[in-house]
Amino acid sequence: MGKSLWRAWRLPLLLALLVLGGGTAAFAMMLPGDKAAPPAQETPAVVTPSITEPVTPSPSPSPSVSSAVNPSPSPSPSPSPSPSPSPSPSPSPSPSSSPSPSPTASPSPSPDMEASASATPVKCPVPTEPVDCSQVKCAALTFDDGPGPHLAALLEVLEQKNTKATFFFQGPWVAKYPELVKATAEQGHAVGTHAWSHTRMTDQKPKDACGNAARGQRSIVDAGLEAPAMLRPPYGSLNDGAIAACPTFQFVLWNVDTEDWLTKDEAKIVGHVKKDTKPGSIILMHETVEANLTAVPKSIDWLCSKGYTLVTVPELFGGDVPRGQRIFKGPAPG
Ligand code: NI
Repeated sequence: MGKSLWRAWRLPLLLALLVLGGGTAAFAMMLPGDKAAPPAQETPAVVTPSITEPVTPSPSPSPSVSSAVNPSPSPSPSPSPSPSPSPSPSPSPSPSSSPSPSPTASPSPSPDMEASASATPVKCPVPTEPVDCSQVKCAALTFDDGPGPHLAALLEVLEQKNTKATFFFQGPWVAKYPELVKATAEQGHAVGTHAWSHTRMTDQKPKDACGNAARGQRSIVDAGLEAPAMLRPPYGSLNDGAIAACPTFQFVLWNVDTEDWLTKDEAKIVGHVKKDTKPGSIILMHETVEANLTAVPKSIDWLCSKGYTLVTVPELFGGDVPRGQRIFKGPAPG
């Protein structure tokens, strides 16, 4: 009796022991060759910098325009640079030394080939011909203060969304990470300068302000790109004296301020985009803000769902951005 009972239970017992004791090993054996390989796709071709940012992103005033869509922006409306409660350019701590965080929070448990596929379904249409922004609803995403620690991941986000943007790089970081600057241009984004030091043009003599802008411009040339005429003045701070002193620059301001540097909050950033974007808008963001890694794709999805074509700043002006005047397009928010 006892013997036959043992026979009857021996097999299930052995199986139970196997599952409890060697379950992991047995399971591992069922997954041939699936080593703990890192998701290779996520390693960008460029070096991700781990830098300490000395840049205080612009708490910049929104340039105010009274007119509606103005294809050639008039130089008159001043972006009233003064009232911004800007902190002094103290180093903002972003010592993230880790490789670029992956923006793709894929819920899929399979770590295989498809891991880098975006979880977001919306894809912007890719224009097959040059976009005529006088006929099409356009908007331009712009990013200041880099190249920074989140740039590689941001480029990946933009690539997944088929979106081109405009980057305003700051001199010292360009000098430090020229490969990132080149990678940005090679991906089809427009590149301008954010000057060398992050000093208000209005706090300098016009000649010095121009010199600072030109030094930023040269850093981009040294990185291997053509000299950009586009300048995003630090803090958007600009006056007629500075413009007159360096009339060959294209002073690119904005009319949607996401305040990303202030809130660092995805929902609030996207909220600004939804509330303030109009046809022709130039949208201000900072690639140094990590929340943008998720705020940007959500903003893009929303903009595309509303029929916007996302373009670079030069494309917004049909390739011919006016020089020697404040550049923004469309109505100002509020
Ligand atoms: Ni800035």
